[in-house]
Amino acid sequence: MSISRMLPLRISNFLFSSHNPLSISTHHPPLFLRKMSMDTQSSAARLIDSGLLRSQGLIGGKWTDAYDGKFIKVHNPATGDVIASVPCMGRRETTDAISSAYDTFNSWSKLTASERSKCLRKWYDLLIAHKEDLAKLITLEQGKPLKEALGEVSYGASFIEFYAEEAKRVYGDIIPSTLADRRLFVLKQPVGVVGAITPWNFPLAMITRKVGPALACGCTVVIKPSELTPLTALAAAELSLQAGIPPGVVNVVMGNASDIGDTLLASPQVRKITFTGSTAVGKKLMAGASGTVKKVSLELGGNAPCIVFDDADLDVAVKGALAAKFRNSGQTCVCANRILVQEGIYEKFANAFSSAVQSLQVGNGLAEGVAQGPLINVAALQKVESFIQDATSKGAKIMLGGKRHSLGRTFYEPTVLTDVDSDMRISREEVFGPVAPLLRFKTEEEAIRNAKDTNAGLAAYIFTTNMSRSWRVSEALEFGLVGINEGIISTEVAPFGGVKQSGLGREGSKYGMDEYLEIKYVCLGNMNSP
Ligand code: SIN
Repeated sequence: MSISRMLPLRISNFLFSSHNPLSISTHHPPLFLRKMSMDTQSSAARLIDSGLLRSQGLIGGKWTDAYDGKFIKVHNPATGDVIASVPCMGRRETTDAISSAYDTFNSWSKLTASERSKCLRKWYDLLIAHKEDLAKLITLEQGKPLKEALGEVSYGASFIEFYAEEAKRVYGDIIPSTLADRRLFVLKQPVGVVGAITPWNFPLAMITRKVGPALACGCTVVIKPSELTPLTALAAAELSLQAGIPPGVVNVVMGNASDIGDTLLASPQVRKITFTGSTAVGKKLMAGASGTVKKVSLELGGNAPCIVFDDADLDVAVKGALAAKFRNSGQTCVCANRILVQEGIYEKFANAFSSAVQSLQVGNGLAEGVAQGPLINVAALQKVESFIQDATSKGAKIMLGGKRHSLGRTFYEPTVLTDVDSDMRISREEVFGPVAPLLRFKTEEEAIRNAKDTNAGLAAYIFTTNMSRSWRVSEALEFGLVGINEGIISTEVAPFGGVKQSGLGREGSKYGMDEYLEIKYVCLGNMNSP
């Protein structure tokens, strides 16, 4: 390993004072800062391969600044420090990224499935080879504990591996004809250029879950990562080039979200929009896509019920609910939002769960033993506070936590609330923070009714030792994913997606391929003529 690849990332002790997470400036910071100002108080944040630190967008295989020279600062949510700056791109850069993806579509889609598969497999190998660096980038810009970030890298890379394999299995059909002189075929073909808009809570995995199947099918992509977490996306894009994925197949633009989104929506060359994020933005994208009638898939907000029945195994339920609630400090769409506990086990569960929550160590995700990192920014923290304020003003009791953590900034104490009811805002809206509201119920029917009483329908969890009940309740729930006696169920081999206002389409698994394919019917007629 060359010495230059071991360079420490800490260059300056934060020449930038602004902590505004989306501060935009027209003045370029010095080049060394733009490239290398990864904050960190310790060697824990040094990257092994500093070549992964990219601070420009990627258009047609070229690393590119914003055309007007504007940039955005990227902050570490644990410290507020500026760790890098990236271009603040808009319409013109996005138009060029679309053109590059469009021009490359022809050649990429014409490669054999096996050729595309080899590129994807190589990309997977590189993601795994650089997993420590990618995990550090995730922790630095997103805040999740390093161990969890490493888990995200494995999870994220698994989509590339899985779809490298699936690329070879895009089968069509031969349909028995209704007429003797005809033959009927179904071909599956790539949809075309894909606009992939991804969130900050999984800076790598939400990209690979979209780009893996898109590339496997023969599509090319324009990725717009969250402006809060662009560095992981850029590192992954750098590795895609190193893997031999041709320039122009993967493009990355970031900056002015509405300008980029509008440009993707308006372009007739973009045939598909895939988005993970809030329901409000998903609705706008869906409406915007109607102008050019694009295919759309949406992974939107959830309001997951976690139902603990009297007959649950207490240890399994506590462990499962803890994982389902506190993964990524509560900042996932599938996090348990409401913990519904049957009255016979309520007190016992509340006590055991509360002591488990108390043991979660809060801190900078780079530090050893930390299980709960910061929230993404101060606005997220204030939102959590407003939920607690509303709930307690309506009779909820704070069993644990309930206030900002002594570490300050964006850290919040892992919190357990009891005596929560279904009318409080915390039960009706997605919390996206480390707060576990416990609601009490009497009967199975009541639990199902309460669980379903939401416009969201992404994930649900059930804890019971009764097999008939587990089937009965799973079938009755209107959610896209159901975990029985498990708190984390996402995997590349199973379909992920919601019903109702939680979204459209599925990601992961063989079903995830369909989102990037068009079906073409071909009729071969007059077979009897000589
Ligand atoms: C999400 O929160 O959007 C994704 C969570 C997962 O893939 O498990």
